[in-house]
Amino acid sequence: MSSERAAVELAKGVNGLEKIIIHETRGSSAEVYLYGGHVTSWKNEHGEELLFVSSKTLFKPPKPIRGGIPLCFPQFSNLGPLESHGFARNKFWSIDTDPPAFPTNSSSKEHIDLILKPSEEDMKIWPHSYEFRLRVALGPGGDLMLTSRIRNTNSDGKPFSFTFAYHTYFSVSDISEVRVEGLETLDYLDNQKNRERFTEQGDAITFEGEVDKIYLSTPTKIAILDHERKRTFVLRKDGLPDAVVWNPWDKKAKAMADFGDDEYKHMLCVEAAAIEKPITLKPGEEWRGRLELSAVPSSYCSGQLDPQRVLQGS
Ligand code: BG6
Repeated sequence: MSSERAAVELAKGVNGLEKIIIHETRGSSAEVYLYGGHVTSWKNEHGEELLFVSSKTLFKPPKPIRGGIPLCFPQFSNLGPLESHGFARNKFWSIDTDPPAFPTNSSSKEHIDLILKPSEEDMKIWPHSYEFRLRVALGPGGDLMLTSRIRNTNSDGKPFSFTFAYHTYFSVSDISEVRVEGLETLDYLDNQKNRERFTEQGDAITFEGEVDKIYLSTPTKIAILDHERKRTFVLRKDGLPDAVVWNPWDKKAKAMADFGDDEYKHMLCVEAAAIEKPITLKPGEEWRGRLELSAVPSSYCSGQLDPQRVLQGS
């Protein structure tokens, strides 16, 4: 049966919004909405959902979708004059039928290419011409790969600068059982304290309350260990030096209309980003930012997770 199924299919999602479903032969899948160029689902070969999407999100433009992988472009948060997290997440993207070649062999994986270009109306808000190409691919082991290519197509000779994030919402069993490895001892800007700079102390990051931090100059590999589910997410990134860690906890959760009161227990955002040093492109220049996610069973022995294996393993 599955061999007859198309690897990439166009379907109607919630409220009739168009989405693309990518199937990988061993059973993993991903879904991407044209609204926002937004990945809303990533399932492993057992059909288990790996991303969190709020039960309260309405899938109603112009509100962004709460969950999955919103794209923050050309502005992260309120770090500039635009709406928070920029506009890419609430624009309608198109399927890119003829994308420029990738230097890697990623075309051998099941994938879809999307493109966002500004309309005349958009140019009034951010007066720059650009092409934002997004490739969403599934590897043979079910790894989810997102590649963003952003090109300055200004004809007036002007450069532009932007900040960026893959605002990934991971699904976790219980936030108090989760730890993040790879960010310990790094500097971060604390969004809860006017983005004052601190240095992370001690061990892996665990969660006992609201967290909203921008870690700076982070390693290319970060692991999220879900003790209860015995699952580890490994996040690999390229061109994205920063990493935001966010969980709203109970008070903020209650204040968000599109987020369930208790849903904070079952999600964690770890966002591969370029924030501290904005990316500047001259006309004709292109930036590339790549995120690769895998979900692997945690190594677990004598009641201890083995972070070394997670961080050094392939
Ligand atoms: C995070 C920010 O990336 O996104 C938080 O660090 C913010 O400060 C969160 O609250 C959610 O943002 P939004 O715009 O999707 O509600």
